[in-house]
Amino acid sequence: MDYKELIKEAFDAQKNSYSPYSSCKVGAALLCKDGRIYKGCNIENASFSLTNCAERTALFKAVSEGERGFEAIAVVGNNGQDELFFPCGACRQALSEFCGKDFKIIVAKCVDEYKVLTLGELLPFSFDKEVVYEKDC
Ligand code: THU
Repeated sequence: MDYKELIKEAFDAQKNSYSPYSSCKVGAALLCKDGRIYKGCNIENASFSLTNCAERTALFKAVSEGERGFEAIAVVGNNGQDELFFPCGACRQALSEFCGKDFKIIVAKCVDEYKVLTLGELLPFSFDKEVVYEKDC
């Protein structure tokens, strides 16, 4: 799938951002190996730590619908700054449960200005299920 299409879906998801506390609107679109796309936005809460990021909203929607194979995620966000918006550490870790090192993370300012990175680049030396269950520790 064309990354530009996935970025457009992420911008569409961003419209539903519930972010009254930070005013930082984030959208994500997760492409599954079967071609389906799951969209997510950030959902804040008066009890700040309960906030759910856009990437995890998309991931949890997909996993809860039975999806297990993932190709790529597009992420867009802003807090008034014209910068690329990178997934936080918690989202990188959540993605690593289901996505391999070559899973693509597309961070975009707009459909024509984006960067493609891999999960391996954004989360090197990750703590994952191989570490927990397949090694003596
Ligand atoms: N946020 C995301 O949606 N994704 C990230 O990867 C980092 C942060 C949201 C959470 C919160 O609603 C706002 O951005 C400011 O932290």
